[in-house]
Amino acid sequence: MITEILLCDRTTGKNILWANSEFGATEIQAAQIELIRPRHEKLREHQKQRARDRAEIFTPPDICKIQNDLIDADKKSWTDYIDAKFLEITCGEAPYLVSRYNAVTGEPIDIKNRVGLLDRKLSVINRETSTPNDWINFTVRAVQSIYGYEFQGDNLFLARKNVFETVKDYYNEKFSRKPPEDFLTTIAEIISWNLWQMDGLTGSPPFTENKNLFGGANCLIKDWRTGKTFEFKDLAEGVRQ
Ligand SMILES: C[S@@+](CC[C@H](N)C(=O)[O-])C[C@H]1O[C@@H](n2cnc3c(N)ncnc32)[C@H](O)[C@@H]1O
Repeated sequence: MITEILLCDRTTGKNILWANSEFGATEIQAAQIELIRPRHEKLREHQKQRARDRAEIFTPPDICKIQNDLIDADKKSWTDYIDAKFLEITCGEAPYLVSRYNAVTGEPIDIKNRVGLLDRKLSVINRETSTPNDWINFTVRAVQSIYGYEFQGDNLFLARKNVFETVKDYYNEKFSRKPPEDFLTTIAEIISWNLWQMDGLTGSPPFTENKNLFGGANCLIKDWRTGKTFEFKDLAEGVRQ
């Protein structure tokens, strides 16, 4: 169930695509997720190929930390901080958002040493809330506030999974148990909107840009405060103006 949600493409209504040199424009099926390996576990040849095809080189946590320190929101209150929006463009396995492991070496990172932008929000929530209800309400808002897009479907699935597992980690750290199932479903649904598959050069799902002529292939994102969906390209154009 969670896996199916984490494979959803909210723009096409189908599953996200592999969009790599092995599987091309075919959808990732739930039965295939065992084939997905993080970059640090991929064969050296595949790593090189992906660096050539898609400039795939991942950022180590010490660099993510330096850069996240620079952009970390300086907000009036901790609740404003939870709502501050961030987007990791071409997010790979999303090391700027969450840092369960070193994206270069694969070495696990203890929860106390994590540096991602969502990690920072969740550690504030762990500090500032006391009841599970409050924790859940603020965590929903925190996950709604972080965005990322990526071309290659295996990276995107791992980015989504990393965010999902991070939320579980912080709940366990706070309450020493697993979060409720309905909350996890809600989190997976938010993630399936907020981390999406897009060719950043076209604003469309990979390999679909020509279909723009017939409408409907521009990637959709959601503003959770209003509940409205937007085409990402309109948002990006608004920022450029
Ligand atoms: C240099 S890696 C950075 C990944 C991650 N942000 C990090 O810092 O570790 C670049 C990522 O961009 C993705 N990518 C390449 N071309 C893209 C495109 N046209 N649109 C979206 N993502 C793209 C690659 O698949 C790869 O995961």
